[in-house]
Amino acid sequence: MREGFFSEAVKNKAFSTAGVQKGKIAADIGAGTGFITEGLIRNGLKVIAVDQSEAMLAEMRRKFARVEGIDYCLGKAEKLPIPDEAVDYTFANMYLHHVKLPLKAIKEMVRILKPGGKLVITDMDEHTFEFLREEHHDRWMGFNREEIRQWFGEAGLKNVIVDCAGESCCTQSCCGGEYASISIFMASGEK
Ligand SMILES: C[S@@+](CC[C@H](N)C(=O)[O-])C[C@H]1O[C@@H](n2cnc3c(N)ncnc32)[C@H](O)[C@@H]1O
Repeated sequence: MREGFFSEAVKNKAFSTAGVQKGKIAADIGAGTGFITEGLIRNGLKVIAVDQSEAMLAEMRRKFARVEGIDYCLGKAEKLPIPDEAVDYTFANMYLHHVKLPLKAIKEMVRILKPGGKLVITDMDEHTFEFLREEHHDRWMGFNREEIRQWFGEAGLKNVIVDCAGESCCTQSCCGGEYASISIFMASGEK
């Protein structure tokens, strides 16, 4: 499903924006089946993968059964199961539009960063495709980039950049055939 939705290029751009370095620790929040985690491991990082879904984590465990360096953690946006200042990078791809309180979720992702650590969020720009609420359980119809910039500032991040990720997220409604193509933003900041 993910493959049809957005391309691999998204994560590579996120990694280069964060300047990921081998041997460092990253958190993948709303990890799903491990799209971001897989790339981080390939780049030589250790990963704490957090998701609220046991089923998603079980699928990740199955997929990465032979891979070392991944901690699988069941947890929710409002209270991540990671101590303060524990990770060098936090990534969240296509996660924020699912959470109830995005600013709170951003503050939690900042809390777990070490000083100097980087947060990179990739998600959808504002859109009007209602079918995504029902079919994909989206809570937010994407985000306004200016609002994201403000939230990053409120969460205490500096050097905040919110820009086009140069990719789109594409999917077709299962009922009615409506086709959504939504641009993806990338927001980054440093603690
Ligand atoms: C669209 S998927 C994205 C998965 C993955 N990041 C990717 O890029 O393929 C969103 C994931 O966020 C998780 N999620 C949604 N709301 C959450 C919350 N409040 N706390 C923790 N995880 C959440 C879901 O279980 C799901 O696995």
